[in-house]
Amino acid sequence: MAYLALYRAWRPQKFDEVVGQESTVKALQNALKEGKLTHAYLFTGPRGTGKTSIAKIVAKAVNCENLDSGEPCNNCSACQDINNGNFMDVIEIDAASNRSVDEMRDLKEKVRILPAQGKEKVYIIDEVHMLTPEAFNTLLKTLEEPPARVRFILATTEAHKIPATIRSRCQIYNFRRLTGDEIVSRLKQVAAADGVEIADEALQLISRRANGGLRDALSMLDQIYSYKGKKITKQDVLEVLGIVDDLFLAQLMERVFAWDTGAIIRMIGEVLNSGKEAQQLAREASLYLRDLMLYNVLGEDAEFSVVTEESLQAVKQQSKIKMENIFEALKIMTEAADKLRFSDGNKYLLEISLLEIASITNAKGETTQSNQPAILRNKDIKTAVKPNKDENRDALWNRILQGVKEQKVPTHALLCQAKPLGIKENVLYIGFKKGFKFHKERMEEKANRELVEKVVKELLNKEIQIQFIFLDEDQYNDIVAKKAIEFFGEDIVEIKN
Ligand SMILES: Nc1ncnc2c1ncn2[C@@H]1O[C@H](COP(=O)(O)OP(=O)(O)O)[C@@H](O)[C@H]1O
Ligand SMILES: [Mg+2]
Ligand SMILES: [Zn+2]
Repeated sequence: MAYLALYRAWRPQKFDEVVGQESTVKALQNALKEGKLTHAYLFTGPRGTGKTSIAKIVAKAVNCENLDSGEPCNNCSACQDINNGNFMDVIEIDAASNRSVDEMRDLKEKVRILPAQGKEKVYIIDEVHMLTPEAFNTLLKTLEEPPARVRFILATTEAHKIPATIRSRCQIYNFRRLTGDEIVSRLKQVAAADGVEIADEALQLISRRANGGLRDALSMLDQIYSYKGKKITKQDVLEVLGIVDDLFLAQLMERVFAWDTGAIIRMIGEVLNSGKEAQQLAREASLYLRDLMLYNVLGEDAEFSVVTEESLQAVKQQSKIKMENIFEALKIMTEAADKLRFSDGNKYLLEISLLEIASITNAKGETTQSNQPAILRNKDIKTAVKPNKDENRDALWNRILQGVKEQKVPTHALLCQAKPLGIKENVLYIGFKKGFKFHKERMEEKANRELVEKVVKELLNKEIQIQFIFLDEDQYNDIVAKKAIEFFGEDIVEIKN
């Protein structure tokens, strides 16, 4: 027998088997019991939440020969034919591929023909938002003068694209995303029925990436089954789905918030070398940052994307950074994930994005856990040297100096008298101590400035401008210095002798 995809094998065949969607199920079942079903329904909601499944249950219920408490029997010939797709009076139309007015005209005519096989004809029109305006109009006319013994169930993932005229002719049910717990328990049920042993964390990982859709969850499980057989661990799921370990993410973000440039670059390299995609890492990092936001907003009750207790602790700890910084970081990361879809896994984009997050979260004297004890001590994943913002800045600075020296010693000699203040909005601020006016002015000359920019660009893979600041008594009158102070805090800008 051909292998039946899990999501098809597990299509709910009666109301009782539907996960979630309680109010919809209850209303429809009651209407069926009382013979009060209306002639047109609009099911809206995300994909894989049960719209088509429930439409088919309704189609069976109206044709079933032994309807019991609003439930179809799944035994009579009508039920069985519908389940096998051999029932002439249940007509499924995919509006995505039958969008034109001709198709709807055709439907308008055929609708008049009495049911051939069953008690009622049921038209299930999927992705109904795809119809052209003319096709919608024709459909509207059909809905306005409903023929006897015909019902319509329209389904869409994009409710806002359905004209108000159509909506007003339908009873509307909104399908919700299923919760993580609902998905996990369904997956457990499926796995148990198939004699598969699957770790809880593995189930959580799948469920959290299904985004409320059971079809996707079951498809992922399918994919993992076919690779891993009857025993499935968290590691298996990470491997098959190409997901980055949440513990790794927690540690990576810890390095980011500590502005540990070296560790960030190294960790990205490690994870990409282990075969993960840059885009996947960016997406997972976005989910992780979203967790930080969720924790701030909802506390412990949120549905996090991280699954281990250890990572959750990290989320709690890291979510202490300012909300506006979390939002900004989230924006940077989702944009990076988006861009990475179209560039073939450019890892520099990832590095830049994480470094950018590092710089915004470390501006304005922002601190996170860096002065607190390290929260993550997993031995499996190597973490970098102790987080220290100054150390990182110094490390970067030393590499810049080295790079400049290799190309032009005189420039190096000038630059040695300066100190880096930090990078903000693609500008690297470099300060000169009191009494080094000469050096500053030389460095501001085109050739010298460009050399530094070139070296920095090679190091960070990013266009960075250089601003030299003269930190003398007048520094507070200097707009550039003011800006730098605003960004990095007075204590950083003030360079101690
Ligand atoms: N609410 C649900 N309860 C049980 N299974 C579901 C549910 N929603 C989706 N599924 C699973 O996903 C598959 C596809 O669901 P479907 O009803 O076609 O979703 P939709 O039409 O909303 O995209 C089903 O065959 C079933 O395996
Ligand atoms: Mg569907
Ligand atoms: Zn039946």
